[in-house]
Amino acid sequence: MEFLQSNNQMDYTKEKLNYRPIFSTLSKNAGAEIIRYGRSKENAITLAQGQGDANTPDFICEAVQTAMSDGHTFYGPPIGEPALRQEISDYYKRIFNIDVPMNRIFVTASGTTAMDYALTSLLDPGDDVIAITPIWKNLLSAVEVAQANAIEVPLDEQDGQWSLDLDRLFDSVTDKTRAILIVSPSNPTGWVMNDAEIKALLAFSRKTGIWIVADEVYSRLTLNESHAPSFLEHAEERDFLLTVNSFSKAWAMTGWRLGWLVGPPCAESIICDIALYNTMGAPTPLQYGGIAALRHGEDFIESQKLQWRQNRKTLIERFDNHDRILMNPPDATFYSFFKVDGEEKCISFCKDLVDNVGLVLAPGVGFGKDCAGYVRLCYAVSDGLLSEALDRLEEAVR
Ligand SMILES: Cc1ncc(COP(=O)(O)O)c(C=O)c1O
Repeated sequence: MEFLQSNNQMDYTKEKLNYRPIFSTLSKNAGAEIIRYGRSKENAITLAQGQGDANTPDFICEAVQTAMSDGHTFYGPPIGEPALRQEISDYYKRIFNIDVPMNRIFVTASGTTAMDYALTSLLDPGDDVIAITPIWKNLLSAVEVAQANAIEVPLDEQDGQWSLDLDRLFDSVTDKTRAILIVSPSNPTGWVMNDAEIKALLAFSRKTGIWIVADEVYSRLTLNESHAPSFLEHAEERDFLLTVNSFSKAWAMTGWRLGWLVGPPCAESIICDIALYNTMGAPTPLQYGGIAALRHGEDFIESQKLQWRQNRKTLIERFDNHDRILMNPPDATFYSFFKVDGEEKCISFCKDLVDNVGLVLAPGVGFGKDCAGYVRLCYAVSDGLLSEALDRLEEAVR
């Protein structure tokens, strides 16, 4: 099976059909490629994708079955069932102690779709979007598809920690800058933006009119706290702020494709239009699963966090004892983003891992310009599987 050897362009032009030119220059997604490649290998362990090995809890699935029996099987409002929008509002009150009324909450068919709606509502071709990197590759590609330019502002890496130089971020703004894209907690680094940084960014946005698009998909995947700082805790209703969220990670619902977007009240009609001409709304019965997840999911989240905390500890211990593996311990999420000393080409390194020891990890290359020496591992799995994966990694990296 073929595997990409470089980050060259995909050959969409082969058949000379009249697709939009952007698809002949779109950068390759090495993470998606390695997952595809890994599927062809028997007994490979895949920790390349952003999901755990836990099933969605039964009480969530049962709520959908009940909803279907009760006849919730028809088209619904494009921005979500009112019952779910209200439940999300209640969730913000209960967990974050903030008032986010349901007219600011738009249910989407995944966090990815919420991000797509956010970018669609803001970007024209040629706009600049500042992105704090390393960042989930798909977001950089979504900016590319919108024919906007992603301007990367890399986090600094010092003394085993990631940190943001806010002045550098502010200095990157041009007269074409339309939005600042932030993933906090961050996929892939686990870096978390603090309250002071959030406040400074909001003040900057008010002064300049530049939008903040905050991806808070990992906001519940913290170590000890109930949640990471949210932009919504510090924002005013009328701020230039769109916040993306998802059921995928905290409630083990990656395959459901259910998420939400929060914006100012005036966004409602715009997002409704975008949804109307896009998905026409998230699947109706699944939204009832979303209600159950928010209402009854706290024990499940806690039990998952217990497992992830233990796994994080295991990783730190094992990497500390390894001469060539260098990792800044993640402050949140379930990712380890690490370097292997002497391995600067993550794509060939990851391919060799699959071929030689049957371990599928995500190459860092897509996460930003300076990430070719990194690899990402998702540790949201049972301790037995993690241990076996780390044995394989250590066998490959002596
Ligand atoms: C930062 C970030 N946002 C969004 C998503 C996707 O969320 P969803 O599964 O709801 O599309 C991911 C998935 O890995 C992610 O890492």
